[in-house]
Amino acid sequence: MDLGLAGKSVFVAAASKGLGKASALAFAKEGAKVTIASRNTEQLEKARDEIREAAGQEVGIVQMDVLDPKQIQEAIRAAADAQGGLDVLVTNAGGPPGGSFSDFKDEDWERGFELTLLSTVRMIREALPYLKSAKEGRIVNIASSSIKQPIPGLILSNVFRAGIQGLTKSLSQELAEDGILINTVAPGRIATERIMQLDRLRADEQQRTVEDILAEANRQIALGRTGTPEEFGRIVAFYGSLANTYMTGQSILVDGGLVKAL
Ligand SMILES: NC(=O)c1ccc[n+]([C@@H]2O[C@H](COP(=O)([O-])OP(=O)(O)OC[C@H]3O[C@@H](n4cnc5c(N)ncnc54)[C@H](OP(=O)(O)O)[C@@H]3O)[C@@H](O)[C@H]2O)c1
Repeated sequence: MDLGLAGKSVFVAAASKGLGKASALAFAKEGAKVTIASRNTEQLEKARDEIREAAGQEVGIVQMDVLDPKQIQEAIRAAADAQGGLDVLVTNAGGPPGGSFSDFKDEDWERGFELTLLSTVRMIREALPYLKSAKEGRIVNIASSSIKQPIPGLILSNVFRAGIQGLTKSLSQELAEDGILINTVAPGRIATERIMQLDRLRADEQQRTVEDILAEANRQIALGRTGTPEEFGRIVAFYGSLANTYMTGQSILVDGGLVKAL
């Protein structure tokens, strides 16, 4: 299947590591012009070199903290200027802190909102003029399986990622007339550095081996294993591609059968 991504201009947020980086790599492998953005320039350069080597494509980097609206504005403009417009926006951010209802004050809720939901709004707002001119623009939001089934101890993520799902559905109606398709891709348990680090922490806390923690987690997943970033990136690239012409407003789980809800 031709994804129609060759020569398309793609911006991937929070992409120096993990799911963002894997998504950027998937687009680059399809011949797209890709800019990756995050806070840490050194890490971005490392990711750029890795993607360039694996995909044989030049990759742009731009520093951007998704908590800073000015940086979002400048980063998206810089990428569009360098790549001759923008066809695809992938929104992503670091996860909000874990905790339960009693752990958080107003400031924590406000920060969680800004990091997870408002950053998505701001990135989309900034990219929209370019996506409208592209005529067949695509937006893919990276969220979490918590949009279908809240995860214990992650109340900020559970609440604000559900907002991304509402935003996706609402915007699918508003943006259709401009030819823009918007979908959310929600990871279950994907083996990024962050997930592996959390496993190690849990193992230390519970005085168990990492293998034991991993096996326990994998037993919850119908396919019996944690997904790879490549498996996740491919789905993001598909929804951001011109091969997707008739799905918009959807939230798709990439979770190996972790969530059991209909
Ligand atoms: N992996 C999973 O299984 C899984 C499951 C459910 C949900 N998620 C969610 O998916 C997202 C990505 O997860 P991941 O596993 O890929 O995490 P990761 O490996 O820790 O990568 C996070 C990326 O986000 C960037 N980032 C963090 N805060 C940022 C900010 N304020 N502004 C700009 N960039 C920022 C980091 O780069 P810099 O440090 O350079 O800024 C890094 O590139 C997170 O929100 C996570 O909660 C992941």
